[in-house]
Amino acid sequence: EKGTYPHYMLKEIDEQPLVIRKIIQAYQNEKDELVVVDDIVKSMKEADRIYIVACGTSYHAGLVGKQFIENMAEIPVEVHVASEFSYNMPLLSAKPLFIFLSQSGETADSRAVLVRIKEMEHRALTITNVPGSTLSREADYTMLLHAGPEIAVASTKAYTAQIAVLAILANVTAKSRGMNLALDLVHELGIIANAMEVLCDTKEEFEKMASEFLPFTRNCFFIGRSLDYFVCLEGALKLKEISYIQAEGFAGGELKHGTIALIEDGTPVIALATQENVNWSIRGNVKEVAARGANTCIISMKGLETEEDRFLLPKVNQLLTPLISVIPLQLIAYYASLHRGCDVDKPRNLAKSVTVE
Ligand code: M6R
Repeated sequence: EKGTYPHYMLKEIDEQPLVIRKIIQAYQNEKDELVVVDDIVKSMKEADRIYIVACGTSYHAGLVGKQFIENMAEIPVEVHVASEFSYNMPLLSAKPLFIFLSQSGETADSRAVLVRIKEMEHRALTITNVPGSTLSREADYTMLLHAGPEIAVASTKAYTAQIAVLAILANVTAKSRGMNLALDLVHELGIIANAMEVLCDTKEEFEKMASEFLPFTRNCFFIGRSLDYFVCLEGALKLKEISYIQAEGFAGGELKHGTIALIEDGTPVIALATQENVNWSIRGNVKEVAARGANTCIISMKGLETEEDRFLLPKVNQLLTPLISVIPLQLIAYYASLHRGCDVDKPRNLAKSVTVE
């Protein structure tokens, strides 16, 4: 039930700190360490390459997951859009492990890939919010998101839950491989949950941004580099899906290869700057679009800010920033949709779970 909330989406955005805490609890053992079923960790360690397969928002979570698994556990990862993988299968490695990311566990495009790779006798792990769902039943292993039912068509808490569970999976695998790249994730995720709360308590800021940047625009661009780029893809999907504004996420460095031609006087460009190693280059990109008339808005992380920034995110671990940088983008999309009088929870032409290929 949505209780006093006007929309499920807003309720689900607000539930994110709680979901992170639930995930920590669900994956903790009696010694307060995060653990994953032995067979899953064994399969991760045996794999020479991991293939993450998903659609939409879950695909965007997969892009972040790749970074975690490669950085922490040092296993190569490919991320594929399920509907493309089905018809254009890449050459597989000798010992692949497949990870299916799906909030509903019922997405037909992902299932089609699962059926194919099971015929080929490869191993599969499904990460889903729905125990007993088709993708969970048909895979060898399941990890649950513990996000509670997600009703709004636009996925929010399932995205952050997927990222948190992928971080746990990557971290536990890294530890079990004896890597010193593993994080104290109980501590780091605790910081994330608190930071999420701060952001959820700052909604007016994001409502203001939506009214300032998006009231009459026909398009909007999100730019970022590295992990921020992946979050930009998700921010753009949220905005287009529920406000019908044509929105795109771009890698900062790609702008000059074509996209910058789209910038006109007043075009809104929202930039994320949470990654130290690309902080100056993304700011350079913001200058380039501003010089061509863009209406720019920088959301950065504490410690990396400059005077021009519009909003500062609380400081969290560099690798885990997508868990919090997505929240302003979810809220901006929510308020843009609301202000334009769109149906926030049930956008046109879309279904919550897509059970046809
Ligand atoms: O249930 P799934 O995670 O498999 O769903 C995948 C996509 O259909 C879903 O994420 C979709 O993109 C959302 N409506 C985005 O908000």
